[in-house]
Amino acid sequence: HLDELAIHRSIDSTNAELRRRTPFGNGALVCLAESQSAGRGRRGRAWVSPFASSIYLSVGWRFNGGAEVLEGLSLSVGVMVCEALQDLGVEGLSLKWPNDVYLNGKKLAGILVEMSGDFSGPCDVVIGVGINVRLPDEQAAKIEQPWSDLQTSGEVHFSRSILVAKLLNRMLMALAAYEEEGFAVWRDRWEAVDAFAGRRVVVDNNGQRLAGEAAGVDARGALLLKTNSGVQSIYGGEVSLRLQ
Ligand code: ATP
Ligand code: BTN
Repeated sequence: HLDELAIHRSIDSTNAELRRRTPFGNGALVCLAESQSAGRGRRGRAWVSPFASSIYLSVGWRFNGGAEVLEGLSLSVGVMVCEALQDLGVEGLSLKWPNDVYLNGKKLAGILVEMSGDFSGPCDVVIGVGINVRLPDEQAAKIEQPWSDLQTSGEVHFSRSILVAKLLNRMLMALAAYEEEGFAVWRDRWEAVDAFAGRRVVVDNNGQRLAGEAAGVDARGALLLKTNSGVQSIYGGEVSLRLQ
């Protein structure tokens, strides 16, 4: 169930705000903001977060089981974001392992899952989602990779509130089931929108590079990479994936 939904005009980071609220109870905490002064991506990178032009959303959730089931969570959240957008008629979406949402091959949304707690007992998880709706040019200029937003990329006849409502409905239902089911039930849905399936890619693990062909994901959400020495499973964390 939903315990709290807060909408801030401005905040440092919706993820940081919910992390300050741990330990969580048994209901979900939802935090939204119109802008973030210190929006964060993976590996401490900044997430460009101008006022009223995107969605900055975090959900705080307590998982009571072991944390290993959470390995595939950010992939499942990617599917939830894609499916919420597809429900509203958006076409051209795909997912880049482990956690980027692309629109027409350019980054539309990012997902940042952070955990705290004892990994054998209850684990408090903050799931942050940023979706570009209409980025002003001067803000977008700070982004170091091809990006997209919903309004410049096509016809979008829905408000941010409708998208947030659709996404939250999906997330709250799915999170309740996730603890029991894990990533396995999401695998086919993830592979249906896999941006790099069958493509030559390079995996970069802190400077250690491995080239191969992207071959989907396994039942735990690890990337499957076909290399000269067989299929390797690549786990998330600090790994980054590029087209070769
Ligand atoms: P990988 O995680 O595989 O390295 P990535 O390059 O997308 O992929 P992340 O750390 O996941 O890296 O995401 C942060 C990156 O997202 C930043 O380096 C920046 O280039 C980009 N970025 C920042 N803000 C936005 C935004 N609003 N929209 C799209 N991209 C953004
Ligand atoms: C990434 O692609 O690296 C993840 C970006 C995640 C951005 C969202 S915006 C809402 C939430 N609050 C943050 O500070 N980050 C996430």
